[in-house]
Amino acid sequence: NGKYTVTLIPGDGIGPEISEAVKDIYSAAGVPIQWEEVSVTPILKGGKTVIPDSAIESVKRNTVALKGPLATPRKVGKGHVSLNLTLRRTFNLFANVRPCISIAGFKTPYDDVNTVLIRENTEGEYSGIEHEVVNGVVQSIKLITWEASERVARYAFYYAQSQGRNRVTAVHKANIMKMSDGMFLSACREVSKDFPGIQYDEDLLDRVCLQIVQNPKPYADRVMVMPNLYGDILSDMCAGLIGGLGLTPSGNIGRDASIFEAVHGSAPDIAGKGLANPTALLLSSLMMLRHMNLDEHAAKIEKAALTTIAEGKAITGDLGGKASTGEYTKAIIQKL
Ligand code: IPM
Ligand code: MN
Repeated sequence: NGKYTVTLIPGDGIGPEISEAVKDIYSAAGVPIQWEEVSVTPILKGGKTVIPDSAIESVKRNTVALKGPLATPRKVGKGHVSLNLTLRRTFNLFANVRPCISIAGFKTPYDDVNTVLIRENTEGEYSGIEHEVVNGVVQSIKLITWEASERVARYAFYYAQSQGRNRVTAVHKANIMKMSDGMFLSACREVSKDFPGIQYDEDLLDRVCLQIVQNPKPYADRVMVMPNLYGDILSDMCAGLIGGLGLTPSGNIGRDASIFEAVHGSAPDIAGKGLANPTALLLSSLMMLRHMNLDEHAAKIEKAALTTIAEGKAITGDLGGKASTGEYTKAIIQKL
């Protein structure tokens, strides 16, 4: 039927409402996508959280998925890790791409943020290797491998090149973690030799934090690549510069599959009330469309959404408006 099948994981909390908004906008825009909806509820197997086979099979088959927020239950048992992380690990989604770009028309103290963070997505402090050495002494292993560092660095340079960004900055703390971050930097340096047209430099994480909140301009048109935890923290901070997590998309890129997701959580406090802002999930889905070479559809929807936000008449509460999720969605559809 000339349609692409994409896995949709609506997720928990506000997930179903914001997924519904995306689906409505897509059918109105005539995007040639057919959704295969799967639910991801945690299964405990031998004390470990696993993703249901039906969801895994669907993502494997379709190779592209859009995902809403999955709640991380506080304590399901020893060995339980976030399902978000389990998905990233299951499909070896090695690069987490998080653009942070000011939305014209949505006023924040900064109007010129335009940076892309690429976060190593499989290891670092997220390796999940923890143990108690003796009572009162615990080790959490920060695992850094050359292979994963080289792989994410190569993706960052490739991404910069294909997006017309001419500078890649590796963000690190190699002054302290001389071996792990030091090796991460060596891998980036090595890869940079294959991209002579792209300027490469290195900067300390704390310095980047300080400088970007004072003046984001020098970071525009760059790609910043970094180990996992640094990317987690810095991406929330950069989201704050453009108006919060309701507006920032992300893509988890792997060789065999890619999963696009909003960075925010499941917001159980407002779930089911029609208050949620679907923009982050919508913008994530547009990254997905561009990944699938459906650029024209992406551009059309992006324009409608950004105009709706700029007009400010039908925006959700988190952006200072009074519109419900449905009213905002309708306003976007009217502009298509
Ligand atoms: C994110 C989230 C996740 C992370 C959580 C939900 C496991 O904060 O995508 O940034 O820490 O990576
Ligand atoms: Mn995070």
